[in-house]
Amino acid sequence: MKVGIIGLGNMGYSMALRLVEKGFNVYAWNRSREKLERIAREGVKPVETPRDLALTTDTVIVMVSDDEALREIVYGFNGLLKGVKPGFTLINTSTTTPFIDKEISTKIELEDACFIEAPVLGGPRVARRGELLIIASGRKHCIEKNKLVLEALGKIMHVSERIGEAMVLKLAFNTLLISSLELLSETIGLVESWGINPEYFAEILSKTVFAAFAKKYYSRLLAEEYPTSFKLSLAAKDLEYGLKTGNYKGQPLPLIATATQMYKLASLYGYGGEDYSRISLFIRRLRKWPQPKEYTL
Ligand SMILES: NC(=O)c1ccc[n+]([C@@H]2O[C@H](COP(=O)([O-])OP(=O)(O)OC[C@H]3O[C@@H](n4cnc5c(N)ncnc54)[C@H](OP(=O)(O)O)[C@@H]3O)[C@@H](O)[C@H]2O)c1
Repeated sequence: MKVGIIGLGNMGYSMALRLVEKGFNVYAWNRSREKLERIAREGVKPVETPRDLALTTDTVIVMVSDDEALREIVYGFNGLLKGVKPGFTLINTSTTTPFIDKEISTKIELEDACFIEAPVLGGPRVARRGELLIIASGRKHCIEKNKLVLEALGKIMHVSERIGEAMVLKLAFNTLLISSLELLSETIGLVESWGINPEYFAEILSKTVFAAFAKKYYSRLLAEEYPTSFKLSLAAKDLEYGLKTGNYKGQPLPLIATATQMYKLASLYGYGGEDYSRISLFIRRLRKWPQPKEYTL
């Protein structure tokens, strides 16, 4: 089966390698050439445009940053939509908003093709092992047709035929996780600000309902350096999308709104390209900022 992938970032690159390993005939397009040239040495075939990818393959997986990137790939000059033919499938695994997925799915279905909304849980290493949790919305026959490729990447949880619902669930999970990391970082800062060894706090957490969460994230938050597996700027984007998605239906999300501001501020202060766990360094460094000698208006 010929499968295309668009977006060879931290996630897409690992997913493409996984598909090669599972025996798929993999083609790819990426905005910047160097990643395409690198992955060509691993057996992935580069193409010139998203349109070419749709014309060459049966199914294209898109794994890009955000709504703007997805929009450019689908509607842009030599965009994917220009190559869509009956029987084709577009799978969006990026974390976007439900709004853009609904819009694109309508256009794709007009061409007698399939659209699957399939945001994922799990980072690049999990993707490389084919162990993602894939939350999917889309027509049953479309999922059935693409079962082999989806199962090569992870476990499918088909939640609805209605496009948008899988993305809402993904945004609900990510806003919970990302805001919780900020909250844990703040409480570590509270402990440290009194000169108390944060390991005591870790020990307390390990005996409570927070044990599993702390086990997974505590040392990552405390580490001075951590390799980027999920960019902090993308975490800020997920919070913003979650906020927008809930507010659209009239749901107030005040804690998520505050977390969004903190991650956006950290991005502005240069942490955007770093791992999202660096929110902990940003928050804890705030207390060491120079204090004004006197307060004047
Ligand atoms: N990393 C994780 O742990 C993780 C886990 C689950 C879901 N996600 C989601 O998966 C998506 C990708 O994440 P990632 O970590 O792989 O991000 P990444 O490393 O920053 O990669 C982003 C990809 O999007 C492409 N891109 C960005 N803007 C574009 C545009 N305007 N036109 C065309 N291509 C564009 C980039 O191309 P260039 O190479 O040219 O910059 C790159 O291939 C995001 O939606 C993220 O929220 C990430």
